[in-house]
Amino acid sequence: MSALAVSGVSKRFGSLQVLRDINLSLEKGQMLALIGRSGSGKSTLLRCMNGLERIDAGHITIGGHALSYAPAALRRLRQDVGIVFQAYNLFPHLTVGRNIMLAPRLVLRWPSARAEARAREVLATVGLSEKFDAYPNQLSGGQQQRVAIARSLAMAPQVMLFDEVTSALDPELTGEVLITMENLARSGMTMVLVTHEMSFARSIAHIVAFMHDGRIHEIAPAKDLFARPRTEELRRFLSSTL
Ligand SMILES: Nc1ncnc2c1ncn2[C@@H]1O[C@H](COP(=O)(O)OP(=O)(O)OP(=O)(O)O)[C@@H](O)[C@H]1O
Ligand SMILES: [Mg+2]
Repeated sequence: MSALAVSGVSKRFGSLQVLRDINLSLEKGQMLALIGRSGSGKSTLLRCMNGLERIDAGHITIGGHALSYAPAALRRLRQDVGIVFQAYNLFPHLTVGRNIMLAPRLVLRWPSARAEARAREVLATVGLSEKFDAYPNQLSGGQQQRVAIARSLAMAPQVMLFDEVTSALDPELTGEVLITMENLARSGMTMVLVTHEMSFARSIAHIVAFMHDGRIHEIAPAKDLFARPRTEELRRFLSSTL
């Protein structure tokens, strides 16, 4: 069964058509990378996948949910579909552990001990077991981003969405976040990520979609897409990112 199916999705902001007839599907455990120029619609497509933006036409099924905008349906969908952004948005006045425990406590209504056990487990997953009692401002940017990933994982999502999670980081911090995502992929998580890290997309993603002007201009297994771009637009994009 596919973990993600997008069919005939279109989206406009006012008179600006941002997504045009998007079709794609992803199997459970696969990683899809979305690449393309600034303004091509990558973030909008990602945000549509968990209902942060409303689509004008088409259908999306993700993590076992058919997307609909009723508040209760959206809440259920977002429990199964995690999203992590470039800005990690941790609460500065809460420890790392408390940040991660928040959603399981409030949304799943878990008792404190269970939420704490879960927080320790996901912190270990991102390699930050020793930071449970630290405050966000005591961590590096890369560590904060890994905490943000752990916070999302605490809800045991079926699918994880990432929007340029390394763009604000120095190169040496980028590497540790990419390794965290690579480990997550190896553990069998279904993932969609918008990225400018072409070597990461090439080596780790199963499928890569090149977006151009609101369309999926090319989509192919990673090794094929990078080795044999079929269109002039993708060739130009790839040569500009070298
Ligand atoms: N809330 C909004 N209201 C109006 N226009 C928007 C809104 N969000 C995005 N857009 C426009 O939609 C288009 C696609 O934006 P989007 O953020 O999806 O691009 P992107 O591919 O993620 O670009 P980048 O690589 O710069 O992040 C752009 O022209 C953008 O200006
Ligand atoms: Mg974007």
